Amino acid sequence: MNKNTLYQELLAQTSALISDESDTIANMANISALLFEKLSDVNWVGFYRVVRNELVLGPFQGKIACIRIPIGKGVCGTAVSESTTQRIGDVHNFSGHIACDATSNAEIVIPVKVNGNIIAVLDIDSTQFDRFDKVDQSGLEAIITLFENIMIKHGVLN
Ligand code: SME
Repeated sequence: MNKNTLYQELLAQTSALISDESDTIANMANISALLFEKLSDVNWVGFYRVVRNELVLGPFQGKIACIRIPIGKGVCGTAVSESTTQRIGDVHNFSGHIACDATSNAEIVIPVKVNGNIIAVLDIDSTQFDRFDKVDQSGLEAIITLFENIMIKHGVLN
């Protein structure tokens, strides 16, 4: 399947899964499960939540992962401190990368914002170098924008 079509379908499926649900953790769990099932060559998909100025492991699919990541550390903490998506083709060249699973070679991390504050990040790992391109980035960012809008609709603050 064409990658643009895949992401259109994933966006529609995410909307069907989360639009009527106000619980943020439940929605993170189902988004993780959907992406883990539907994306090829990914070995970890999940959320880290911002809790008292630190990232704490949230709903995920994949192997056991590190629980706490300081803001500014690793790919996840950098996505928060720089308030922007991190798309890393080779994590071994990313200074400070935190290796939870030694088989991971590429990673994409997208901040989740509500009312201007980052409340979490979506983290996806792959064993394949350069797994995530601009189409993946824009497709995943669209899914996160939808999630943000659902949280705002349901009155979720941070
Ligand atoms: N690699 C991440 C840590 C989380 S695991 O990939 C699940 C990082 O450098 O922040």
